[in-house]
Order: sequence, then structure tokens, then C-alpha cells
Amino acid sequence: MNFTKQDLSNIHKFDDDMLKAVIEADNTIDKDLFELADEVRREYYDNKVYLRGLIEYTNYCKNDCYYCGIRCSNKNAKRYRITKDEILDVCKTGYDLGYRTFVLQGGEDSYYTDDMMCDIVSSIREMYEDCAITLSLGERSYESYKAFFDVGANRYLLRHETADNNHYSKLHPDRMSLDNRKKCLYNLKEIGYQVGSGFMVGSPYQTSDNLVSDLRFLQDLQPDMIGIGPFIRHQDTPFRDKENGTMELTLRMIAILRLLFPYSLLPSTTALGTINEGGREAGIKAGANVVMPNLTPIKYRGQYELYDDKIYTGEESAEGRKALEKRLEMIGYRVVTDRGDVNKLK
Ligand code: 5AD
Repeated sequence: MNFTKQDLSNIHKFDDDMLKAVIEADNTIDKDLFELADEVRREYYDNKVYLRGLIEYTNYCKNDCYYCGIRCSNKNAKRYRITKDEILDVCKTGYDLGYRTFVLQGGEDSYYTDDMMCDIVSSIREMYEDCAITLSLGERSYESYKAFFDVGANRYLLRHETADNNHYSKLHPDRMSLDNRKKCLYNLKEIGYQVGSGFMVGSPYQTSDNLVSDLRFLQDLQPDMIGIGPFIRHQDTPFRDKENGTMELTLRMIAILRLLFPYSLLPSTTALGTINEGGREAGIKAGANVVMPNLTPIKYRGQYELYDDKIYTGEESAEGRKALEKRLEMIGYRVVTDRGDVNKLK
């Protein structure tokens, strides 16, 4: 199937077969697709790129996802936990560097009880009234999510990973379920969080029909943020010999997401920067409008290894912000330090 730029501007009206044809089209489609995505992003967010300071506060995880380097059965992973004081120190450094969103991301680690998380969140909230607090700590009960929200958390990131049950069961052990994941996402919305979901591109066994299901699920959920990145194998997982996802398909999916969710906050992810030098900039050009530099204390940074060769010392690090800013300016974007809340009002 051939698509003109005019056709693609109506992508929100496409049926499943047509969406699949866009996903599978050859690369001649990308110029139009990226241009359209960039136009739509500028309508909603101008040329602004929002910053989130990422704090990977624990790499302990009770889950055993087949793709992930910090899965519990990876005995080679060197585990760490960051204390409340260290987290607050990191926030101070981040604040001074201009970050106005802190993202606390970790494995599913029950060491951090609800009370501990509430204590951490409320301390950050007290000290940094003008900042957004984003949590990303996996599946918890409605009550836990509500408690975190009530003490000051504003946003929550929980990728659905894949919206197809059969595919989900090829990526996760039986004790995890897509239904519960979805339930968590709807709970978070109900509580009042700005919610982020997303999926990996090119994960093992993924088909383009699966990607269409991901888009349809997201249309139902209507998330504020959507995080996607290429699957990258990790040597200590059952998927060590699987093919990596590609930058090309990830960029195309970013552009499609921008067109289907014009208001969304879309990060150009570390995985994209890892798979390809310049991947992050390419993501921004294809419609992404968020970058999440790493604020985790250097001594732990290498240990949050979800996949092989994860980058963490250059422009994706908090310290590399100036360099990142320059590179994005060169391609016509402006890194800003506002909180960068979702713009659904347009
Ligand atoms: N490759 C790419 N992304 C991964 N994630 C976990 N493992 C990998 C991997 N091997 C992603 C998951 C998770 C997010 C924090 O990182 O989508 O939700």
C-alpha cells in the first residue's frame, strides 16, 4: 500500500489493516511521517523538549521478566538500594541543575514499604513544591498508589509492555498477567495521576498485529505519557540470543504515536540512544518531546542494567545536560526546565 502525506494526516481514522500497512511500509514513508509528527508536536508543544531527572533507586526486583537484566533470577546482577538521604541529595543536585521533574524508578522491591515510599515522596514534596514527582515502581495495590498520590506524587509510569495476552505470556512468567497490569493502569488514572504506559519495539515474538493492539490499547487508556524503546538483549537473560529491536521501527512508532496522541509527552529513550548513536536526537525529530537524563549517583549507575551496553556517562547523564542542550539546539529544539505537564487543553 502507498500512502501520501495527505493520507497519513488522517491516520487517526485508519482501521487496523491500514495501521498495520503503515507499520510495515518501506522506509520511503518516513520522511512524510516524521514531518507530520513534527508539525503536530509543534502545534501542541512548540519546539520545547522537557527534561526529567531519572533516579534509579533500586535494582532489586521480585519479577522475572525474560527480557530484563534485573530479573530476580539473574544472579550476576550486582544489587543496590539507595537510601532516602541519598535520594534527597540527588534531588538537590538535580534541582540545582534545573530539573523540575524527578522520576523515582526501580524494580519491584518490597523492601520499600508503602510507609517508606510515602516518607520519601512527602519529603521531596515538602522541599520542592514546584517540582513534579513521577513514580515508576511497578504493580502495587490501589491503596498503595492512592497513598503515594495523597502525599504528593503526580505522575506514574508503568509500561504495559505488550497488549496481546499471548505475546505477554511469551515475555513474562505465568505468575504475571496482562490483566493485572491493565488494572493497575486504570487504577492510577482513576486516582488522578498523569499516567504513562508504553511498550518495547522489536521484543521477541512481536508481530505488527501486536503493535496495532498496543496502539488500540493506548487509545482506550488515553495515557498522558507514552514511553517506547527498542528491545535490547541482555546477556544474562533467556533472551540473550534474540534479535534487538531497530531504531528505524522505533522512530516510526514514535511518529505514529505523536499523530495518534498529539497531546502526549513522548520520551526519546535511553534504549534508543543505546541502540544507535544519535538515536535520541532522531527520536526528537520523529515526534518525541521529552528526555530523561540519568541522575542516579554514578557509583550505582552501571548496575541498573536492563539490557547490554546501556549508556550512562555521556549526554544522557544529568551532568551532560549542557552538551545535550547544544545538540538539540542544533537541530532546532529548545530544552526547557518547566515541569512540562501534559497539554490536553488545545
Ligand atoms: N530492552 C529494552 N527495554 C527493556 N526494558 C526492560 N528490559 C529491557 C530490554 N532488555 C524496559 C521495559 C520496562 C522499562 C523500565 O525498561 O519496557 O518497562
